[in-house]
Amino acid sequence: MLQVLENNKSLFSFLEDHKDIGFVPTMGNLHRGHLNLVKASLEQNDTTIVSIYVNPTQFAQGEDLEKYPRTLEQDISQITELLNTYPDKHIGIYTPSKKDIYPSDISIYNKVTKYEKELEGMLRPTHFSGVVGVVHRLFDLIKPSKAYFGKKDYQQIVVVKNMVNELNLGIKIVPIDIAREDNGLALSSRNGYLTDEQKSDALKLRHTLLSVKEILLSDGFDAIDYDSYSFLNYLSIRDANTFELANNKTEKIVILGNYTMNGVNLLDNVEVDIR
Ligand code: PAF
Repeated sequence: MLQVLENNKSLFSFLEDHKDIGFVPTMGNLHRGHLNLVKASLEQNDTTIVSIYVNPTQFAQGEDLEKYPRTLEQDISQITELLNTYPDKHIGIYTPSKKDIYPSDISIYNKVTKYEKELEGMLRPTHFSGVVGVVHRLFDLIKPSKAYFGKKDYQQIVVVKNMVNELNLGIKIVPIDIAREDNGLALSSRNGYLTDEQKSDALKLRHTLLSVKEILLSDGFDAIDYDSYSFLNYLSIRDANTFELANNKTEKIVILGNYTMNGVNLLDNVEVDIR
């Protein structure tokens, strides 16, 4: 059964009948990566709520808030089709208005969490306070047991997990692997801003991260010459569990990078088990 929940009133009445929610927060324009999150939630929970809300507070002035793709009908039909494979499960598609999410102008939800000013937060200084604000508000409204996030936005998962721990929200954050095109490009709604040629140039990011992985595995940390990667907006090698900078003793590593193609910031990462 699928229900579209257009406001908080319909969300709350849906929640009266459904408990133990698996939650997939999105900004819509769903691609295979999002559908993998929905699929994981359908497999692990009787009821899933997918939110579709383009959150203005995580966009800085001059970013793509206005042109961000809004494809609600297409999103609903993709979820409907996926649900056909799970006939016993329930889905609520929550499409709130700004008033549902931000009832007053001043929000108590904007928290500052660890790592929010680094890497992506260095490029977009107000981004993570907007993300944490909206995710906290959504968690408060929906009160899910589990929430599903894609690993392409690895740092977002770290920041959200920190928030959940700090506020003791008791929500399990479930990270899902990056979905890629056949050539390896990480799926992103923003890939839609690129031509095919630009998309294949954008693969430079993926190839760079994979070559850094090879150097790490064969020659170790000291062999990484960061200056030679200055064409990236950042390259960072972190402990995959703690997100501290990795060192020779770190066993599970994540290599993260960001690359600008045609004015679009693309991010990707590669996890490495060193044991
Ligand atoms: O990853 C996203 O799409 C957004 O940052 C999220 C988590 C839906 C919050 O707006």
